[in-house]
Amino acid sequence: MNELLLSSPNKSHEKQALEYMQEHFSVGERDLHGASLLEKMPVYGDWLTHLKKTNNPRTADPDWVTASTFFAVRKADKKIVGIIDIRHYLNDFLKGYGGHIGYGVRPSERRKGYATEILRLGLEYCKTINLTHIMLACYKDNAASAKTIVKNGGIFEKEFEYTDGKTIQVYWVTL
Ligand SMILES: CC(C)(COP(=O)(O)OP(=O)(O)OC[C@H]1O[C@@H](n2cnc3c(N)ncnc32)[C@H](O)[C@@H]1OP(=O)(O)O)[C@@H](O)C(=O)NCCC(=O)NCCS
Repeated sequence: MNELLLSSPNKSHEKQALEYMQEHFSVGERDLHGASLLEKMPVYGDWLTHLKKTNNPRTADPDWVTASTFFAVRKADKKIVGIIDIRHYLNDFLKGYGGHIGYGVRPSERRKGYATEILRLGLEYCKTINLTHIMLACYKDNAASAKTIVKNGGIFEKEFEYTDGKTIQVYWVTL
């Protein structure tokens, strides 16, 4: 696995960001994890505006919590291999399901240890915003995500049936 860095999305990422999204679509994944609605916004600049708004407690939409979204960029070739979204606190929705952090790795770069490293870097960022208890949730059948969480110190708290009938597991990392 090559070294990664977390990079705030900007205009220079546009072409790669669209390729990143397209790669998911090409394997039938319509929803991107940790991407703060990138796949729902046809205009990349609108997504950047949304991220900027959401990153500021004064401008964040009242239904959204303040959050920071980063591309995980491989240092060697500057390729975007994944994305992570870190919510600065939990609202009722996130307490029930989403947790503090969402993340994803592009299909062609999976099973190389990148999610584990992205979450590690994300937890380092959490320290800088004084988060000490991080809730992470995933579907029970998402073994890769559960392992990623446990490898980063996640302690299983509980599991429950979500509205879609699937089992969700909740983990906590203490920093
Ligand atoms: C979940 C996801 C982020 C994992 O990314 P990844 O880069 O492949 O993960 P890693 O390579 O760091 O692997 C982490 C662990 O999961 C295991 N793993 C990876 N893919 C797996 C799979 N399909 N089935 C079972 N285990 C898997 C790895 O072997 C590793 O465990 P190990 O160290 O014991 O070998 C990636 O599959 C993804 O983006 N999925 C879609 C989005 C998503 O589910 N996000 C999380 C939402 S909660």
